Amino acid sequence: MPFRVGLVGLHRAMGFAHSFRLLPEVELAAACDINPETLAAASDELGIEKRFTSFDEFVDSGLDAVVVSTPMPFHAPQAAAALRRGIHVLSEVPAIVDLTQAWELVEAARSSSAIYMMAENYCYIKSVGVVREMVRQGLFGTPYYGEGEYLHELKELNEITPWRRVWQTGIDGMTYGTHSLGPLLWWFGERVVSVSGFGSGHHYRDPRGAEYEQEDTCMMVCKTERGGLLRVRVDMLSNRPHLMTYYSLQGTKGCYEAARGGGDVDKIWLADHSDDPNKWRPLSELAGEFTPENWRKWEEQARKAGHGGGDLLQVLDFTAAAREGARPEIDLYASLGFSLPGLVSQESILREGAPLPVPDFREIKRFPEDLPAALKGSSIMVRATPDGQPAWLR
Ligand SMILES: NC(=O)c1ccc[n+]([C@@H]2O[C@H](COP(=O)([O-])OP(=O)(O)OC[C@H]3O[C@@H](n4cnc5c(N)ncnc54)[C@H](O)[C@@H]3O)[C@@H](O)[C@H]2O)c1
Repeated sequence: MPFRVGLVGLHRAMGFAHSFRLLPEVELAAACDINPETLAAASDELGIEKRFTSFDEFVDSGLDAVVVSTPMPFHAPQAAAALRRGIHVLSEVPAIVDLTQAWELVEAARSSSAIYMMAENYCYIKSVGVVREMVRQGLFGTPYYGEGEYLHELKELNEITPWRRVWQTGIDGMTYGTHSLGPLLWWFGERVVSVSGFGSGHHYRDPRGAEYEQEDTCMMVCKTERGGLLRVRVDMLSNRPHLMTYYSLQGTKGCYEAARGGGDVDKIWLADHSDDPNKWRPLSELAGEFTPENWRKWEEQARKAGHGGGDLLQVLDFTAAAREGARPEIDLYASLGFSLPGLVSQESILREGAPLPVPDFREIKRFPEDLPAALKGSSIMVRATPDGQPAWLR
């Protein structure tokens, strides 16, 4: 039996489609987009016959899995609808845009036989995987500090995809933080428990002359379960070259800093692999034996896939987990663990950087009763209406 995959949101989904096509067990079985022209063009290109402008008809068309790559407010409701039907979900980032969506997703996943995975492709970039393997083997000792930055000036893209002007740059705080936080938590193997959010002020206006609601650089400072410190910076507005994959890691026995562009390389210092306590080594010198298995196996195809190979590697993990009925590494609670701190930073920024607790949805049995008191009735309780519109425009 082929593994029947449906795609919804046929811009970003094309990247997933090219990866799924490398897997003989997968059939790209159905496509969905509310835009009929986009639907026709993408389906023709992929040779998909079953085409839907209605999500409800699409999700009932006999699928084993769906890839949700619609704009942000649709991720959770569409994922939950699929889970309720026993259909596996690979969802674009972030998993949620408010706490009510988090609960909807949790309820749907808890009663589903299907798996949920968030497609945090930056976790699957080769250098991130190499560092993770080194952490696992103890080369960093105990990790206690990390940094992630996503600096992606997208003022023009905002106008081409107007949902970004609402959901990414139309809200203050970290609206798109999982690419930066995900790899850090992937290394740390723990959860963020509290977050403070800060902004750098407003220095740009959109083409209509309106100030962006989001401050130009947003930062969150996170404390982890074991007391570690993470600093995440997201900037989608400042005029500057892109830098979307900057990470650093500090542990008791080593440190790592990703390339910052301009000819820089990924570099590492490890107490057990260095003679000089003040000398970096290029990560590439040590990467060989720490390269994750799937990267070795799929290196050639990964090099042609998007986002440093992450687009392919995540599809391999998802397909294997769904077919084997196994828990994916970026499962529901990991996905929420990557997504919730950014959301909480949005409320913290409104409260002048006050540290706020990040709910652990594994512990939440009644909603909203079991939420931390500081978040009940806050701005992040409901941001989207059930049909994906901004709740504040109601
Ligand atoms: N992980 C990554 O590296 C990465 C990269 C790009 C985009 N993304 C994410 O992917 C998602 C899509 O981004 P994009 O750049 O492709 O956006 P886009 O606006 O270019 O495309 C979205 C598509 O979804 C369709 N659509 C909108 N609402 C829909 C609905 N309710 N049902 C079905 N189809 C609907 C639109 O017609 C459009 O074709 C976003 O959440 C974005 O954050 C992730």
